[in-house]
Amino acid sequence: DAAAATTGIHQPGITTPVQEHLHFAAYDMMARTTRDDLAELLSDWTYAATRMMQGLEVTATGAVGGSPEAPPDDTGEALGLPASNLTITFGFGPSLFDARFGLEDQRPDGLERLPAFLGDDLDPLRSDGDLCIQACADDPQVAVHAIRNLSRIAFGRATIRWSQLGFGRTSKTTSEQTTPRNLFGFKDGTANILADDTAALDENVWVSASEGPAWLAGGSYLVARRISMLIETWDRTRLAEQDRVIGRDKAKGAPLSGGDEFTAPDFAATGSAGAPAIDPRSHVRRAHPDTNGGIRLLRRGYNFVDGTTDLGRLNAGLFFLSFQKSPQRYITVQKALSTDAMNEYVRHVGSGLWAVPPAPAAGSSVGAGLLG
Ligand code: HEM
Repeated sequence: DAAAATTGIHQPGITTPVQEHLHFAAYDMMARTTRDDLAELLSDWTYAATRMMQGLEVTATGAVGGSPEAPPDDTGEALGLPASNLTITFGFGPSLFDARFGLEDQRPDGLERLPAFLGDDLDPLRSDGDLCIQACADDPQVAVHAIRNLSRIAFGRATIRWSQLGFGRTSKTTSEQTTPRNLFGFKDGTANILADDTAALDENVWVSASEGPAWLAGGSYLVARRISMLIETWDRTRLAEQDRVIGRDKAKGAPLSGGDEFTAPDFAATGSAGAPAIDPRSHVRRAHPDTNGGIRLLRRGYNFVDGTTDLGRLNAGLFFLSFQKSPQRYITVQKALSTDAMNEYVRHVGSGLWAVPPAPAAGSSVGAGLLG
């Protein structure tokens, strides 16, 4: 595509048609590891990821082709399964850019821990990390196999800090995909940026050569937010109130100003008694580009249900993932959500920000542009 021609090729897993399942993991480099360890790890990860995305085992020897006296190279649970559209996407966190690896001067402006937002209730054990890997696939076993084997390959160099499973995409990245529903029961992804909209991608998602730094040209920034949803409270809320909170109708996903799912919202339209048809505090109004200087995010999140809480409620929510060309763009949108009516029903409990480098050139490794 045009952007690829000017800025280098992008990593998979951003504009790729959103798959049905996610395994996301954040890693920390181990104490006393060096720049060489980091470069070697990224090279080993690139090799294994490239194979797994083709449906191959992590090495040619694989799960059953090696010595019976040694643990197999591949863990084996994906034997016989197709690649299932697996994509593996790597990111570099703010904490990677320090003296341990001689990267202090390479940290892009703005690649720092996201600021505190109103209503945050962040768990440090579900936040941040030197590195992250997003594995998406249409078969959950394939996504888990990818993270499991990449974690194993990291042995002695990086350890997993936290990870998250997700099911049921909450967005779409192509017009052929239907709009899925999130755990509030609403269509999610209606106004997302689509893969064929290269102008919107250049404008909102890809870091251009002039925006720099050079090693990040053609890359992006990934934000992850683990957002707990107060499902039981939501389920006791009147349908009209649910619609008001989102700003769209639950049946069709149409804006409350009228039309169908893909009609643009009309924030000037009035409803009964002259009140705005779309509440100024609705989620769609607060998140809309008109409220945020034209900013759009490429959203790619997943539902999660991690069992139940000790009160017997679903420990469930949205693992929000978005790609944008600068951290500030995400911050602007989330700040606008400080008055979002939806806040009564959600809590942000985990957070992370990573720079996502461009795809490696053939025969090279992800991040080679950074490490030289
Ligand atoms: C739109 C749900 C969190 C940014 C929407 C829509 C729904 C929704 C139903 C309307 C359909 C669509 O266009 O996709 C949720 C839920 C969330 C959540 C349930 C949390 C549990 C967030 C967060 C952000 C965000 C944290 C960014 C900081 C957006 C944006 C839009 C949107 C940019 C499109 C607005 C437009 O252009 O009309 N969301 N969202 N959302 N949301 Fe969220």
